[in-house]
Formats: sequence, C-alpha cells, structure tokens
Amino acid sequence: MSSVLYPGSFDPVTNGHIDVILRLQKIFGRVVVLVADSPRKQYWFTSAERVKLLQAALAQATGVEVVASDDLTVNVAQKYGIQVIARSARTVADWEYEYAMADANKKLAPQIETVFVMADAHNSFISSSLVREVALYGGDTSQFVPANVVQELKKRGKK
Ligand code: COA
Repeated sequence: MSSVLYPGSFDPVTNGHIDVILRLQKIFGRVVVLVADSPRKQYWFTSAERVKLLQAALAQATGVEVVASDDLTVNVAQKYGIQVIARSARTVADWEYEYAMADANKKLAPQIETVFVMADAHNSFISSSLVREVALYGGDTSQFVPANVVQELKKRGKK
C-alpha cells in the first residue's frame, strides 16, 4: 500500500472530488485529503467546516483521512511521509494553472511527484464556485454535491 496527498480548497467538496478521492484510494490504498487555502480565493466555509463536510461525505470510505494545514503542500506531504501529490484536471482550461503549481512544487521539493487524474466526464464541468452560485440563488445542488453538503449550502443560500 502506498499513500497519496490530494490537496485542494474543497469549498465545498463536490461529487467530482469524491469520485477522484475514491479512485485514488483504489490505486494507492491510502489517501490523505488536504484542505488547504489559496491566497487567490475567498472562502464560504472555514477550513474546519470544509474538513467536517469532507469527513461526513467520506464516512463510509476506507483508507481515506482528511486533514487541514496552512503550511506549504509539499511540507505537509513530507510531514506525512508521502511522495506523491495528486491533482485532478477537468478541462484543458485547468492545465496551465496545474502545470505551474506542479512545477513550483517540484522546485520546492524535487523528490515529490505530482500525478494528474482526469475528472470523469460526468463531473467535468462541476466546480465549487459554480455550486456556490447555484446555492446562492436558492437552486438545487443535489446533483453536484453529497447530501450533507446540500444541507449546508441551503443554510447559506436564498431562503
Ligand atoms: N471535480 C470537481 N471540481 C474540481 C475537480 C473535480 N474532480 N477538480 C478540480 N475541481 C475544481 C474545484 O472545485 C475548484 O473550483 P473553484 O475554483 O470554482 O473553487 C477548482 O477546480 C480548483 O480547486 P482546487 O483543486 O481545490 O485547487 P485550488 O486552486 O483551490 O487550491 C491549493 C490550490 C489550495 C491546493 C494550493 O493553493 C495549495 O497547495 N495551497 C497551499 C500552499 C502552497 O503550497 N502553495 C504553493 C502551491 S504551488
């Protein structure tokens, strides 16, 4: 069994993320899901809330743990003894950003590899910001996110 670190904002976790996490678990055995922050983003959910939403959505999954950190992702990987970071790309629009991040991580920690998993076609156009926008206007998010997340989004959208 080997381990992989799957970092992201998860604001909130979507069905697309869950699909990727479960596929990574089949390949690696152990997945550490890292809730991290990007300085480019403003978040709806606090880091602790994002962790709780992920943990509840993944309660039935084996070999998956959810952690949060405000450290560099490569430092978290080292702390957990993990050599592989996984990222998921949906469409070609994701690639430039993903390559830049993988390159920066490689320069910071050359021994750590980044691997990419394609989001499945069904989830290719889901993003957390799209889901938040649907929720903001009181729309139904149930086809995009796990059931526990639907409930939390309802509390923050139009009544
Ligand atoms: N299904 C659904 N959505 C997906 C997806 C999938 N399979 N794969 C990616 N996405 C979406 C996310 O929903 C998110 O949408 P949004 O922009 O609307 O919120 C978008 O793709 C990208 O989000 P995510 O994968 O969470 O990345 P991010 O850019 O928000 O987060 C960090 C990047 C947090 C991982 C990165 O900034 C980081 O590592 N920070 C820690 C500090 C650090 O090490 N910085 C240096 C990095 S080089």
